Amino acid sequence: MSDVPVIDIRGVWTRFDGMVVHEDISLTVARGEMLGLVGGSGSGKTTLLREVVGLHKPTRGEVRLFGDPILDPDPDVRRQVRRRFGMLFQHGALFSALSVFDNIAFPLRELKRLDEALIRDLVWMKMAMVELSPYEGRLMPAELSGGMVKRVALARALALEPELLVLDEPTAGLDPDLSENFVELIRTLQRELDFTVIMVTHDLATLAGLATRVAALADRRVVAHGTLKEVMAVAHPFTRSFFAGLHHVAAPGQGG
Ligand SMILES: Nc1ncnc2c1ncn2[C@@H]1O[C@H](COP(=O)(O)OP(=O)(O)O)[C@@H](O)[C@H]1O
Ligand SMILES: [Mg+2]
Repeated sequence: MSDVPVIDIRGVWTRFDGMVVHEDISLTVARGEMLGLVGGSGSGKTTLLREVVGLHKPTRGEVRLFGDPILDPDPDVRRQVRRRFGMLFQHGALFSALSVFDNIAFPLRELKRLDEALIRDLVWMKMAMVELSPYEGRLMPAELSGGMVKRVALARALALEPELLVLDEPTAGLDPDLSENFVELIRTLQRELDFTVIMVTHDLATLAGLATRVAALADRRVVAHGTLKEVMAVAHPFTRSFFAGLHHVAAPGQGG
């Protein structure tokens, strides 16, 4: 069963008030892959991620995670699937009224019945993974730098030891140094924990540093799909303009 895709997007159509955003999108992501999703602003990248995690129902078609429909009618199946992925969305990254510790503990408290001593150990372990000290658990989101917000959100996304990580513009708003650190952190964690990633990014360095495959959304469809090199070679106006600067960026997955 290991060749069941982690993500299976099957013939998805999305329409909002008569505006068609997706027209028959099909994509699969295999275990251990890191798929980078690119597309112009408003091309439906965030919406597709929301459909992947079951926050939005496609107008037509379906998404399966680990072989099961993410919107399975059986709430037990949905709950089981929900425990197997973590997400980091660009907006509303953290609960502003909860401390760093409580933000990371949130999914553990919500989806598992664990005693507080165990939760504390698990939260501290996740904090160490993203290079935060236990002391920083007391801080409130408003007291954090942009880079720390991202690391806390990543720790929260990893709280349930997900097999799949869903990232919407994980490095947006970070300056190049912090962005590079964050990419390196995700790459190291992925090697250690062996999760699958689907990630939207506008940032060419993030894409080059992480994505094992790339899919480009344009004209409501997937217009290119393959390795970064293959997608760069596709002569669509979107890919041409998007990748115009990438020749200067290091190749993915090399060195380190
Ligand atoms: N809940 C919604 N209701 C109506 N329109 C929406 C909704 N969510 C997204 N859209 C529209 O769908 C299009 C794609 O949005 P989005 O997925 O956020 O694009 P991207 O992330 O690629 O910039 C946009 O035109 C957006 O305004
Ligand atoms: Mg978006």
